[in-house]
Amino acid sequence: MLCKYFSETCVLAEQEGRVVGFVSAFVQPESPDVVFVWQVAVDQSQRGKGLAKSLLRNLLNREACENVRFLEATVSPSNNASQSLFKGLARDIQTTCHTSECFSEDLFPGDDHESEWTYRVGPFENIEEV
Ligand SMILES: CC(C)(COP(=O)(O)OP(=O)(O)OC[C@H]1O[C@@H](n2cnc3c(N)ncnc32)[C@H](O)[C@@H]1OP(=O)(O)O)[C@@H](O)C(=O)NCCC(=O)NCCS
Repeated sequence: MLCKYFSETCVLAEQEGRVVGFVSAFVQPESPDVVFVWQVAVDQSQRGKGLAKSLLRNLLNREACENVRFLEATVSPSNNASQSLFKGLARDIQTTCHTSECFSEDLFPGDDHESEWTYRVGPFENIEEV
């Protein structure tokens, strides 16, 4: 659905015709300076090579993001890779990564769902130069 309706803010990485990574995202309708990353995933064979970070940089450099100053995503506390990704992006583009609780555990059905935290990277401007 995101690729269909928000293709300008979705990014795909292919290797020899095979999808090895993607970012699905949209610019928040009520906050046009915020791009929300719904999902970012990299095939296990390609992890740890900087691909996720370069997909995010590609997204932020797109025309669709020209008014975007913040990137947000929700991350669960056990997802170390994802936390490092957003913190590393913030460091690389010389800005901050602010975290705050988004959905607490009790909002999810059952007992086995972690809370979700908002990672807010920004503000940033022309990231092509950093
Ligand atoms: C999260 C994910 C997309 C990262 O992809 P990746 O291409 O391996 O990430 P990168 O190589 O660009 O690394 C970005 C940073 O995260 C760090 N990192 C990557 N994997 C890590 C891990 N397993 N544990 C800790 N840090 C990790 C890297 O060292 C790098 O840090 P740096 O900026 O300080 O150098 C990938 O692990 C994945 O697909 N996970 C499963 C799906 C998922 O959880 N998506 C996130 C949902 S919000």
